[in-house]
Order: sequence, then C-alpha cells, then structure tokens
Amino acid sequence: MSGVSVTKAAHDAAPAGDDLVVLSNVNKHFGALHVLQDIDLTIARGEVVVVIGPSGSGKSTLCRTINRLETIDSGAITIDGRPLPQEGRELARLRADVGMVFQSFNLFAHKTVLENVMLGQVKVRRTDKATAESKSRALLDRVGVGAQADKYPAQLSGGQQQRVAIARALAMDPKVMLFDEPTSALDPEMINEVLEVMQQLAREGMTMVVVTHEMGFARSAANRVVFMADGKIVEEAVPDQFFSAPRSDRAKDFLSKILHH
Ligand SMILES: Nc1ncnc2c1ncn2[C@@H]1O[C@H](COP(=O)(O)OP(=O)(O)OP(=O)(O)O)[C@@H](O)[C@H]1O
Ligand SMILES: [Mg+2]
Repeated sequence: MSGVSVTKAAHDAAPAGDDLVVLSNVNKHFGALHVLQDIDLTIARGEVVVVIGPSGSGKSTLCRTINRLETIDSGAITIDGRPLPQEGRELARLRADVGMVFQSFNLFAHKTVLENVMLGQVKVRRTDKATAESKSRALLDRVGVGAQADKYPAQLSGGQQQRVAIARALAMDPKVMLFDEPTSALDPEMINEVLEVMQQLAREGMTMVVVTHEMGFARSAANRVVFMADGKIVEEAVPDQFFSAPRSDRAKDFLSKILHH
C-alpha cells in the first residue's frame, strides 16, 4: 500500500443531481459466463469512484463497456445524457470524451513522447499541430515528464510512461477518466508518482472511475467505493464506511485478504 496522504477537498464535493455516467440494468455475457449482472451505477460529475473486487469479478469489463471497447447485451449506458453510439465517427468522439488508462501503457513505441500526446488531438479533435504541441508540452509538464518530451517510450521508466499515458488521455479533454489498475505493472517506487498525478486530477474535479488495489488512494481520493464480486455490485459506500465496516461477507472476506498481507 502506498503512502498517499492528501485528502480530497471534501468527500461529498460531487454536486448532486449532475449525473455524468449512468449505467442502467447493464448485462454482459462472454459465452455462458454472465460477467456483468444487472449493473446500476451512476457517477456524478466531479465524482471519484474506486472499483475494487476479486479477480474475475468484472471490473475491467465494466470499464471497457463505458467507452464501448465492449458491447453490452442489455441495459443502457449514457454519458452526459447521451446513449453510447454504436459505431463510426460518433463512437470515435465518445472515446475521446472517455479517457482510458490501462495497466500497460500502450504508447506508440516508434513515436516520441510528445508525438504520442499530440496524435489524438490532431487526428480526432482536428487540432492544428502548433496548438497540439504547446498543449501537449503543458500537459507533460503537469504530470512531471516535460523533460522527456523528445524521447521514445522505451527510454522512460514505467512510472514515467504511465504519466505520459495519462497526459495523452487528458489531451483529449475527456469528460471522464477511466483507470484500470494503472499502477499494478509498476515497480513499487514508481507507484506513488502515478498516484500523485491521479490525486491531483481528483482534486481538480476530474470525474474518475478507478479500478485499483491501492487502498491508500481509495481512502484519500475516492468519494465512493464500489465493491464487485461475480459480476455484481455487491456493496457501495463512502471509503471510511466501506473499509471500517463492510456490510457483506464477500467484502469482509476480500478486505481481510488484501489488508492483511
Ligand atoms: N474477452 C473475453 N472473452 C471471454 N471471457 C472474458 C473476456 N474478458 C474477460 N473475460 C472473463 O470475464 C470475467 C471478468 O473479467 P474482468 O477482466 O472484467 O475481471 P476483473 O475483475 O477485471 O479481474 P482482474 O482483477 O483479474 O483484472 C472473467 O471471468 C474473465 O475471464
Ligand atoms: Mg481487470
């Protein structure tokens, strides 16, 4: 667990009644496996939701349905009041509205750090190159890797690459950022530098869905913890309540395993 100690300005800072991401009765199967079962989840603008749960419970699949990397079988998902588009240009625009950061950084190896961050702005947002470059440099500065702009990804540490991946997602001015275990492939000494960037984003009011095992981050940055098991949302609570007094046996069992080794 990492020693992130900054507290989000207020746990209830998220404005009421301003729903940004809404999943209603979402179901998803992989063959016979029912991976998402009647998922209802509403994320308010500015809210930070941490999703935790055992391996295979559907956390990644949940994230991937929100930017339609996975289709759903039934139910509905809206972003800012609009249903997820099926395909084409609308879908590309939606993907740009939903920034995603994965465990593996997925940077283009043959492009420089700067080019990686510029690419989506130029191709999807149709930003001119000069504007995209100055914005990219500012974002790289913001995540603490401005000096690496002209290097190639392989010349950076894992923590630096992941911060570039965050800058690349932010360059699209996303309405919501999804993080799927962004620190789990990193060496321990690099975890904090990535979590600190995420803490900063949370404080600035970014709407975030974060799948993570970093309980320090969950406690200090999340407005809400969503606990999943077997494709269902079993429990939701503010972090203090979830960690000190989980209600379900599944959550108690899970927490005893991750907190005691
Ligand atoms: N493309 C796929 N095809 C078939 N089954 C899949 C596919 N992707 C995921 N699954 C299965 O769906 C279930 C949920 O997977 P998912 O990756 O969402 O879990 P998770 O909670 O993210 O797990 P982890 O903590 O290990 O990352 C698992 O049983 C997994 O094996
Ligand atoms: Mg996963």
